[in-house]
Amino acid sequence: MKVFLIAGARPNFMKIAPVYREALKHEQVDCRIVHTGQHYDFEMSQAFFEDLELPKPDFFLNAGSGSHAVQTAKIMTAFEALCREETPDMVIVVGDVNSTLACSVVAKKLLIKVAHVEAGLRSFDMTMPEEINRMVTDTLSDYFFVTEESGIKNLLEEGKPQEKIHFVGNVMIDNLFYHLKTLASDDGRHFSTHKLKKEKQDFIFLTLHRPANVDSKPRFQEIAGALDRIAQEHPILFPVHPRTRKMMDEHGIEFSKQVLLFPPLGFKESLFLWKDARLVMTDSGGLQEETTALGVPCITVRENTERPITIEMGTNILAGTTRKSILNAYRKSMEKERDDHKLPPKWDGKAAERIWKVILKLGES
Ligand code: UD1
Repeated sequence: MKVFLIAGARPNFMKIAPVYREALKHEQVDCRIVHTGQHYDFEMSQAFFEDLELPKPDFFLNAGSGSHAVQTAKIMTAFEALCREETPDMVIVVGDVNSTLACSVVAKKLLIKVAHVEAGLRSFDMTMPEEINRMVTDTLSDYFFVTEESGIKNLLEEGKPQEKIHFVGNVMIDNLFYHLKTLASDDGRHFSTHKLKKEKQDFIFLTLHRPANVDSKPRFQEIAGALDRIAQEHPILFPVHPRTRKMMDEHGIEFSKQVLLFPPLGFKESLFLWKDARLVMTDSGGLQEETTALGVPCITVRENTERPITIEMGTNILAGTTRKSILNAYRKSMEKERDDHKLPPKWDGKAAERIWKVILKLGES
């Protein structure tokens, strides 16, 4: 069985790593990694492949940046040619980035089976490009691998057949637990932020990159105002995404000295920092889940989340995006105990194992 595993942007790399590792255990599977090139900077891509112990991709499509239409079209054009040449039996897409959508459309039109890992998540916010990507991908997918119960409910409500929905758990958490083990015996001395982490007690770890938060100047200013206020109480460590860096320059946004800016960090260094943070503030999807898994308090600087389990069972608080609402969420989170959480069902490090069990069974029938 020849399977293409698609990755394009940073959050994809953490999700394909455990799926790939697990594929190697099955002789009958020929699993090839296709990197679309949506992210291409060393810090956004290659550094992650190295950190996550992924081999060099089998195919690199070199799509690069551009408007959504341009980027998606470039990925589709290159991926179509590759599929015609290589004729895979199945394409596995993960998450909700433009590469996820582009490759599922191409595969489906070539009558190749599509499996979506992290299917069914919905923010119900159609202004998010990721929501559109999720919905289109799920419309086309043949198999749905779901991370949390809300995903099952959403897919059933959209009329997807029950037998194609597989509640397998969360590959992001497989990856997290895998690397946590290796970090446990590592004091992080080789990381550039090692000394800083020691010096800054009770720091906050921040990521911020959603277009809705950083592309609009008033919104970004509002968020920056809250961050500067919070940093008076706890230093904020902030690895800055390329989009955010560009928007800070464009909008002329500067932070106070207590907000420490870095270039994007690798997976392990970032984990090394946030796992011991007093609080994580983020607008990313993955960190909402990872903080829940480790019981680290998290506030999400968004109006909604497609991952409600992180609020119901986890440590996540939805903060909104105004200065006032973010400060309120911050105060609320400071009252939470670190162990005040439960692990969501099937977030046990075995999601990839379950995924291949299902796929191999399909191959037999
Ligand atoms: C993409 C995903 C988003 C995900 C995020 C994680 C979509 C629609 N969005 O958003 O869901 O949370 O990745 O990072 O797929 N750039 C670089 N170097 C790179 C990559 C991008 O400088 O390696 C610049 C681009 O020139 C562009 C900006 O960063 O101006 C945004 O990149 P893009 O891939 O369009 O979207 P992200 O905001 O990264």
